[in-house]
Amino acid sequence: MSAAPVMTLDGPGGAGKGTLASALARELGWWLLDSGALYRLVGLVALRDGLDAALPTDCATAVAASRGLDIVFEPDRGAGQRVRLAGEDVTDIIRSDAVSDAASKWAVQPAIREALLARQRDFASAPGLIADGRDMGTVIFPDADLKLYITASAEERARRRFAQLSDQHVDANLDRIYREILERDARDASREVAPLKPAVDAHVIDTTGESVTTSLDKVRRLVREKGWIHA
Ligand code: DC
Repeated sequence: MSAAPVMTLDGPGGAGKGTLASALARELGWWLLDSGALYRLVGLVALRDGLDAALPTDCATAVAASRGLDIVFEPDRGAGQRVRLAGEDVTDIIRSDAVSDAASKWAVQPAIREALLARQRDFASAPGLIADGRDMGTVIFPDADLKLYITASAEERARRRFAQLSDQHVDANLDRIYREILERDARDASREVAPLKPAVDAHVIDTTGESVTTSLDKVRRLVREKGWIHA
């Protein structure tokens, strides 16, 4: 494994780890791995190609596609990063509900997780890596220097998603979002391979009712203890 320092942020969707991870990557000047985006790209390709996870031949096609994904993550002005698949900007489409659902379904497939493993580990290089996902601290980077598990109540995560969709003028139903979050959580936590759970040595941070600034301050305290920032 790489000698570059690695910090992992795991947790359920909507807990705020993406926001925290990109803020930290910017602040430290480190690489950022948004592993969820990789699963979303697999979901997008599978949707476009009409692949069915229940069919072994389709699974083999999806595994081959996962190994060969031509991906570029580009730093975006402001927040996050833009994602290109074979040159096409898919940043927005991979956030759609259809792709979220497909990603969650394909992410339960052990062969898909295996196909993405080496690619994820390759992100660990100097000066350091912030890895955002579900199994960063438990499976991909078990020797990470600092592990966080970022969580929030399902109600709060549903409210955040609803607000985000409303901001984008997308028609949304809070109850339906809440039910989908519960379904996705159950699927992510109950799968046999790399289920969603905190690593034994992870610091658990609950962002329910907290502003991003407050959560970021908590995380910064831990980063400062590591000597990675001094201010
Ligand atoms: O974090 P996200 O919502 O972008 O993740 C999309 C899907 O991929 C979600 O269903 C969980 C899954 N995922 C995973 O299984 N392992 C990861 N390391 C990251 C995401």
